[in-house]
Amino acid sequence: MKVLVTGAAGFVGSTLVERLLAEGEADVVGIDSFSDYYRSEIKERNVQSLESDSFTLVRADLNAHDLDDLLSGVTHIFHQAGQPGVRLSWGSEFSHYTAANVAATQSLLEAATRQGRLESFVYASSSSVYGDAEAYPTRETDRPMPLSPYGVTKLAGEHLCSLYGRNFGLPTVSLRYFTVYGPRQRPDMAFNRFIRAAMTGDAVTVYGDGEQIREFTHVDDIVSANLLAARADLPPGSVINLSGGSAVTVNEVLSVLGTIHGAPLRTVRLPPVAGDVRRTGGSTDRALELLGWAPSVPIDAGLASEYQWMSGVLPLMLDPTN
Ligand code: UGA
Repeated sequence: MKVLVTGAAGFVGSTLVERLLAEGEADVVGIDSFSDYYRSEIKERNVQSLESDSFTLVRADLNAHDLDDLLSGVTHIFHQAGQPGVRLSWGSEFSHYTAANVAATQSLLEAATRQGRLESFVYASSSSVYGDAEAYPTRETDRPMPLSPYGVTKLAGEHLCSLYGRNFGLPTVSLRYFTVYGPRQRPDMAFNRFIRAAMTGDAVTVYGDGEQIREFTHVDDIVSANLLAARADLPPGSVINLSGGSAVTVNEVLSVLGTIHGAPLRTVRLPPVAGDVRRTGGSTDRALELLGWAPSVPIDAGLASEYQWMSGVLPLMLDPTN
């Protein structure tokens, strides 16, 4: 099996490549543009551990690279690349989101269709497609109503995957990730910021009243689901939630982190941010039925794993531009 991982230097992408290499069953090609959404030194560190004869890293933008050449001999694609972040997708930033999340996805789907021998195309979608959802736990059949421009672009990418599946039989599946956390989490995300603040003694910034609920999902569970999805026999264009199993508020997370840290975290309350939904929480019935997947990492153990990772990378993370 020859695998292409897009976004291979990122949080989920690099963790996925690491698992693929550890399993030893695949030749892996990774592509990453090392975009400046966050500092490239952090991504360089993510790929440091991936040195292997079975791994090739292409440093290029999907929108400016020969995708036919990239897909030569590839049997499985994990499309993890994208412009992330819910709260920053407003204003002139939006063009980065459409380019990375919509145009690049469409180009990759076109190239995959031309290539014609793909066994699976797994797309990293997002719980942000639901917005403030119709119902909880949210099912894949509930109406997507994104609340952020970012969510709109992730939903557009997902629709593209489904329609290439329906029109051309391309074996696509969209996995809706619910707020992923754990080692290598991006520096703009909540837990990374909270743990960093705890370790430096700075105050944690809490947006709104902290009572917003997330069903945080550990990166190891996300990687496992990707591998199951690539091997499953799914109807082309499938959509599946990957939701972490325990719905917690930001305030509850801060309390668990205080216990792990050994002292309560200081907080500063800021106004809520546009685009942030009040609650996420997905049904994982379909993931269980189609993939045999259920989340396995509980939030306290998962937070401890991210805390431990941060202890080793704190100097790298301490940069005012994060
Ligand atoms: C995350 C990712 O950043 C998105 O890329 C992803 O698509 C999305 O999950 C998803 O599930 O679809 P988000 O839920 O905003 O988005 O993740 P965090 O940055 O970890 O934020 C979690 C909560 O903490 C939010 O309610 C946010 O308002 C809050 N927060 C974040 C703070 O109170 N303070 C901070 O400094 C950062």
